[in-house]
Amino acid sequence: MPPSSTTLSIPSPSDVPRHVAVIMDGNGRWATQRYLPRTAGHARGVQAVRRLVEACGTRGVQYLTLFAFSSENWRRPADEVSMLMRLFIQTLEKQIDRLEEQGVRLRVVGDLDAFEPHLQHLILDAQERTSHNTALHLTIAANYGGRWDILQAMRQALVAHPELADKPHALSEAMLLPYLTMAFAPEPDLFIRTGGEQRISNFLIWQLAYTELYFTDEYWPDFNEKQLDAAFEWYRSRERRFGRTSAQLTKPS
Ligand code: FPP
Repeated sequence: MPPSSTTLSIPSPSDVPRHVAVIMDGNGRWATQRYLPRTAGHARGVQAVRRLVEACGTRGVQYLTLFAFSSENWRRPADEVSMLMRLFIQTLEKQIDRLEEQGVRLRVVGDLDAFEPHLQHLILDAQERTSHNTALHLTIAANYGGRWDILQAMRQALVAHPELADKPHALSEAMLLPYLTMAFAPEPDLFIRTGGEQRISNFLIWQLAYTELYFTDEYWPDFNEKQLDAAFEWYRSRERRFGRTSAQLTKPS
């Protein structure tokens, strides 16, 4: 299936979102409420990730994209950042066999140069080992920022189309899309953010233009199948118009 831009082609309505994007917020608060170090919340957050991957697989979601570490998260205390890096490494090492068996294709998107060489190597290896899988496309956004993504795509498009320097008005969405890091996937149908905040926080800012946005107060470590089903039920109740009117949606165009 070719990736689509919802501004160019409208996906057929489906009960189960084809692509779900998640900001997993509230790990720190979950831990603090229990008088635990914030890092304990991240460790529990990994369990919630495993539950979500299983649940999305059994419900027929095709693409699941998780915001694990933003470009801005480097500003956190050094011990929390290094614990998160260790957690990514351990999780990759422990889970890769299972992901491969489950038919999950893993990708990591973001500016990976900033990560230590061992982690970069694990990521490349995991991507390679799962590259034949098609059951669920699991993408982890790490050292990712939506503005960074648009800029890096723009730079690549300018290199590929040097004629744009003299004809900037010739730059089109179609020229940029192949260079966005999520070019392989359709745009998200459903965005979920846990932890009570209602913002996008520089996640997939280009791709979320027409996505249904779902916010829940639940902290990420508590997010489970029941909450996922509640989000899907809410999604089913939405009327996706992509700029058209309700009447247009019921009539063939
Ligand atoms: C936001 O909670 C969460 C993060 C910055 C890290 C997310 C990481 C995980 C869930 C674990 C690792 C994931 C993978 C894919 C291996 P927060 O710390 O901002 O919580 P707070 O808002 O309560 O402080």
